[in-house]
Amino acid sequence: MSLSSPRRYQLKKEGALAVKQGHPWIYRNKVSTAVETFASGQWLQLVGAQNEVLGFGIFEPEGLIAIRVLKQGDNPPDAAWVRGRIDKALKRRENLRKYTDGFRAVHGENDGLPGIVVDVYNETAVLQTYAASVDRLGRYVAAYVTRQLGLKNTVWKFPVKRKAVAADRVLRGHMPRETSIREGQLNFSIPVGEGQKSGAFLDLRGLRKWIATQKLDGKRVLNLFAYTGTLGFAAEAAKAREIWNVDISKGALDVAKRLHAKDPSRFRWVAADIFDWFPELPREEKFDLLIVDPPMMASKITQVDGALHAYRKLYREAILHVKPKGFLVAACCTARIPRKRFEETVGSVVGERFKKVTSIAPEDDHPVGFSEGDYLKILVFRAN
Ligand SMILES: C[S@@+](CC[C@H](N)C(=O)[O-])C[C@H]1O[C@@H](n2cnc3c(N)ncnc32)[C@H](O)[C@@H]1O
Repeated sequence: MSLSSPRRYQLKKEGALAVKQGHPWIYRNKVSTAVETFASGQWLQLVGAQNEVLGFGIFEPEGLIAIRVLKQGDNPPDAAWVRGRIDKALKRRENLRKYTDGFRAVHGENDGLPGIVVDVYNETAVLQTYAASVDRLGRYVAAYVTRQLGLKNTVWKFPVKRKAVAADRVLRGHMPRETSIREGQLNFSIPVGEGQKSGAFLDLRGLRKWIATQKLDGKRVLNLFAYTGTLGFAAEAAKAREIWNVDISKGALDVAKRLHAKDPSRFRWVAADIFDWFPELPREEKFDLLIVDPPMMASKITQVDGALHAYRKLYREAILHVKPKGFLVAACCTARIPRKRFEETVGSVVGERFKKVTSIAPEDDHPVGFSEGDYLKILVFRAN
């Protein structure tokens, strides 16, 4: 890979500060109109007020982030430097790979490669690029991961907001409709070709581990926003007697039904909008473990209040259905909602009857490299 010769760009004060502090983003409202002359994907040599070189980044003409910063200092990044970043990311996952063959190999800015995510499912690498400007670099990263790990397939899937302009495609081998991964004692089929995200929510592994080690023998579980039901299958491994999975996506539930349940009689599948379904659930339906894992609800700061309102509604309902000594799991993948605010919001709704017993930390393949990277909050409460 050659880096197209960087163009010099003088940052405004706040942009310069962001680079000095190691932040990977310079927002559009912090750059001068001079950037508009650059094409998407242009490498920039970022200089401060005294023309001193502060670092290097990639220009993006669309969206809130105008420049993704790759490197501080005055030496331009080259292919060897990019490979070094990937090698470091893979090294960090070495232990985890003894436990699973489904993991995030590159976690974007948190691994120093902004906008680029590579997930691995068994023999398939799935690349996702979050802006057109990093597409070229992303392909290089995915090819290198594929080679280093000796994988067969490399596919490129686009995040929801890019799907309208870019079609998913195969970069090497083929696009498996489904592939399987192992996670400790659990095995999952992953709908790579058709599923949400890259195929599965790898970031919930820590929660799956926690659930699988609870004493759920004979217990009832309600798994809200279940997708392909991986949390429910962790509950099955912990011997839960009855597991209800609810999701709006019939397709996701169909994948789960078709591929997973060892004992289908223990499962109930409900395709419904939870905001309509949950208030209708009879009060006498009580569960020993109730999981609430809604989708990302706010991409803009102006949507945060609406998202918190929706959470309050969900948890007001949820606490009515948790048995005494039962667990309530509250997950939030909305990066715009800071950890403290989420905890306060849920805490204020669940009240004195519930105590927070733990929170599930991110695993090694989801490192948190900067404040906005701390997107996933998972809290576990227990009823009196
Ligand atoms: C963060 S994912 C859940 C991942 C899941 N817990 C797992 O173990 O893989 C959010 C899920 O919410 C579902 N969803 C979004 N809006 C919904 C709604 N209004 N009612 C029910 N499900 C919804 C999506 O289809 C998606 O599967």
